Formats: sequence, C-alpha cells, structure tokens
Amino acid sequence: MHIPSLLAKKRDAHELDQNEIEWFIQHLHEIPNEQIGAFLMACQINGLSAQETTYLTKAMLEQGEQLPLQEGAIDKHSTGGVGDKMSIILAPALRACGAIVPMLAGRGLAHTGGTIDKLESIPGFNTGLSIEEMMQNPCFISRQTAEIAPTDSILYAIRDVTATVPCIGLITASILSKKAAEGIQSLVLDVKYGRAAFMQHSDDARELAQSMVRVGGELGIDVKAQLTQMDHPIGTLLGNSHEIVESIDCLKGKGPNDTMELVNAQANALGYDISEVIENGSALAEFKLMLERQGVDSSTAQELIDNPWSVLQRAPQQYTLQAEQSGYVADLDALAIGQVLCEAGAGRSTQDQDIDHGIGIEIHKHIGTKVEEGDAIITLDGPFGVDIHLIQRLKDSITISDYQVGVGSRILETVTISDCSTT
Ligand code: URA
Repeated sequence: MHIPSLLAKKRDAHELDQNEIEWFIQHLHEIPNEQIGAFLMACQINGLSAQETTYLTKAMLEQGEQLPLQEGAIDKHSTGGVGDKMSIILAPALRACGAIVPMLAGRGLAHTGGTIDKLESIPGFNTGLSIEEMMQNPCFISRQTAEIAPTDSILYAIRDVTATVPCIGLITASILSKKAAEGIQSLVLDVKYGRAAFMQHSDDARELAQSMVRVGGELGIDVKAQLTQMDHPIGTLLGNSHEIVESIDCLKGKGPNDTMELVNAQANALGYDISEVIENGSALAEFKLMLERQGVDSSTAQELIDNPWSVLQRAPQQYTLQAEQSGYVADLDALAIGQVLCEAGAGRSTQDQDIDHGIGIEIHKHIGTKVEEGDAIITLDGPFGVDIHLIQRLKDSITISDYQVGVGSRILETVTISDCSTT
C-alpha cells in the first residue's frame, strides 16, 4: 500500500475502503508516527463515515486477543470526566448482584481522571492482568495490555499529542474495540458533554452515543448510552487516592447523591438494582475480594475499607479557598479544577510522567449551598509550595452569587439502538 496516497485520499475527504483501513491498522507498528499523525488529523478534520468507523473498530479489535464471550458478562465505560469514579463502585456492586464484570479501563487523559490511575493508589493493586488472570476472574478492573486491542494504545498516545482526541469515529473505535474484546453481552456508556468533557455540546455527545450504540450492535453487544452533563465536578473528593476514599464511602452507602445518581442509573441500564447489595454490605465485600484477587493483601484491603487514609497517600499541604462574599455557591468549574489538579501533579502533561496519587481536592460546599464570607469552599491537598497561579485559578473556578441556583439531574437522556440510523 502506498501510504501517502491513502493519506491524500482521506485528506481530500474521500471514504477509505475496508482493505485500506485494515491494512493501515495491521501495519501500524511499522508506520512512522508522522504518517499516523497525518492519518488521525485527516480523520479529525473530515470525520469518519459510519462504515469507516465500523471497519476501523473491527480492524483494531482483530489486532489483539479477545476474551471468550461469557453469558451474563457486562460492563460500563465513560468518555471521561472530573470526579468520575463510578466504575470503582459499579463493578463490585454488579458482581454482588451476580453479574460477571470484565472491565478494561484507562489512565487519565488531559484534565480527566482515569480509573487505572485511581486504583494504582492502592498499595499492591495489580492493574496489568494477563489474559489467563482475566479469564479466571469474575470481576476485575485492568488496563489494556499489549495483548488486548494493542493498536488503541499506539493511536491513543498519538491522538493525545496531536489534538485528535475529540473525533467521533476515533473515540468509537477506541472504546468499542476494547469493550468488544472483553466478551461482554451488554454495555452501558456514560457519554459526557459540557465544558469538562471531550464533547462540549449535547448534540455532539448524542452523535457520539449513537455511533457507539450502532457499532456495538454490529459487534453483537447490547449498548445503551447515557448523556450526562459534565460542567461541575462529580462528588466531593477528586483525585486518585481521594476518589478511592469516596468510592469506599459509596460502597458503604454513604456516597454523595450526585455520584450515586449516576451509579444507580448505570446499574439500572444494565438491568440491575444495586441498592440492596450496597445496603447489606455485599458490594463492599465484593470490592474487598476484587482487591485481593488483584494482588492487595487481605489485611491491607481490610484496613483500606476501615480507615482508607491510613493506607492511601495524601499530599502534605492543605490549601483552603474560602468564600470571598456571603451568598450561594453558583458555579464550580470542573474544567479549571481538573486542569489545576492535573498540573499540580495528579495527572500527566507528558506520556511517561509519574503522578502523585496523594494530590486531590475536597469540596466542602457544593453548588446551591448557602455560604458566609470566609467559609471554606474547596481544599487542595497538594505538595509544599504549589504555584500561586494554580491556587489563583482554583479560586477563579468558584463563583458565589446572591441568588440560589437549582441543581438538577445530570442525566439528559439515554440513547438505545432504536435511536440510531443504520446508514
Ligand atoms: N476513552 C477511550 O478509551 N478512548 C477515547 O478515545 C476516549 C475516551
């Protein structure tokens, strides 16, 4: 195949055929990064047709190993947010209801947190299971390895640095190629829109949701996609260790309402009601089992559940931002907060950067809450000497107004196969 001709075809907005897409993906390991980058940018600018998206997803899926299809296997995936810890709660809760949950999750991307980074704040937790380990385990959360959907790691790393993440066809292929490799029957997707999401507008999120539901259907997976608003942080604790602490609170039945609204809705979309397993402690017991099966020793797992901060890292310095006037909290800008967290060290600016799991944020006053001047609104747990500009940006993320704003549901709508055209 003559790569410049293939690139020119996509650059000029012509549709690539199955053979061209398959060849490109099969040879990805040998193709120089500049040509991969050019391919991705042409896809970003001209978009991928429904047919191209299906071919790309299947080609990426076929490059790696796949778990065998399992009766009752289900999963959830989110397009990425700030404070989005729902997978860590949902996986053990669904297992406690009897489901099989083979979950492949990702690391943080840009300002959004990643389930794998969060779980790696737990000492001993192994996020790199082999295919054999995955197959023996009825509920796991692992990262994608060189065995499963390996081409997604290559494309993803290049997309991250070439401004080609928010392309509907590329996101669909990235997510669905991984999910289809899990051998699942049903999948619920949390497709976020708003200022801290990759899709800014609900119309784009709907189009993405329809694309993923349609491709999922073609791969034999029953996919439902919930469009959820991502303007404000989810929950009270944000960051890696911090979100593990809040997930444990949720599994103990003490989670914030906005977080539990999303977890419950995701479980319902998969046909489960998790309220009983949270109430009777079996979801928490499954969480402990998941930790143990993924390498955490039993006493550490128990200690984590009883007293999470005795096991997890927490950054040493607290920077508390107070209300500068009395009134109501009218806005907490999730994009600004996510970016500050990332730049403070909870996320990465370059691919191989180490992160500090102990950096995080606690929100003391949520949107709609009445506050007096001087009340603590947000505390950043950070290293000593955090840049003053970061603290200022955190301060600017808070808006206090004289009027109380209402807080509604984050869930806009659910997209199912009947909402998707097949062309
Ligand atoms: N999550 C993924 O796994 N892939 C994307 O492209 C976006 C979010």
